[in-house]
Amino acid sequence: MAKNNIDNASAWESYWSTAALKSAPILWNCEPAFAAAIDLPRFLDWMERDLPLIDFGCGDGNQTRFLANHFLRVMGVDVSPSAVALAQANNNAPNVEYRVLDALLLEQAAALHSEIGNANIYTRGAMHQFDREQRTLFARSLEVLAGKEGIIYLIDIGYEASSYFASLVEMYAGKLPEELERVLKSGISKGSLTREDIATIFPNFEVLADGEDVIHTIHILPNGENAKVPAYYALLRQARDRS
Ligand SMILES: C[S@@+](CC[C@H](N)C(=O)[O-])C[C@H]1O[C@@H](n2cnc3c(N)ncnc32)[C@H](O)[C@@H]1O
Repeated sequence: MAKNNIDNASAWESYWSTAALKSAPILWNCEPAFAAAIDLPRFLDWMERDLPLIDFGCGDGNQTRFLANHFLRVMGVDVSPSAVALAQANNNAPNVEYRVLDALLLEQAAALHSEIGNANIYTRGAMHQFDREQRTLFARSLEVLAGKEGIIYLIDIGYEASSYFASLVEMYAGKLPEELERVLKSGISKGSLTREDIATIFPNFEVLADGEDVIHTIHILPNGENAKVPAYYALLRQARDRS
């Protein structure tokens, strides 16, 4: 296993184990009304509802449980055992299960695919942190799990996110609120996702729809509004054989 795989997994495990231990605030854990419920109409009609839906990089299952109201079978997967334990404890439902799975280890996606077959995929905020090589692995894992029938919806922080975060750091002049500080100093690497990235990372996929949005956060700005990080979303499926 490459060192940066271990770094990624351990940075996230450290983030989630602290969250579990201290009930620390989680920056992106907004109500589903401001996240998955806004995403849902963008993909619901495209997805075969009898395929399972995988929430990839599900964290503590905050959005997963909402998605379970709309699909017969939902599975949340995450690299962090502490995140999965939190999800099992706090966001369970009869049609939901949670598993530890590392997107960078393709054999894990292949094993899950042999077990459950093709799946639809929802993934929020999980891909931006990876470098180019890791993104390719992440995308291959999604590709294996989706197969020919699965639809992939992903939403992640976009190109303008880094200047947005920089403006927050400047605004708080070194005294960052806890939820921001925990993310910005976690060792989790930063990045963004753009339309150009999607074309490079998913060469075998067609983009059914895409657009700009925000990742709504729980952080309340001095003006009373929630901080909203610029984001990009895309809906993908394996390109149809044109021959
Ligand atoms: C910003 S959080 C978003 C969590 C959740 N999707 C949400 O919106 O509430 C990113 C999640 O991706 C997970 N993650 C990071 N690297 C991963 C990997 N290699 N495989 C699977 N999940 C990963 C993290 O543990 C974390 O829970």
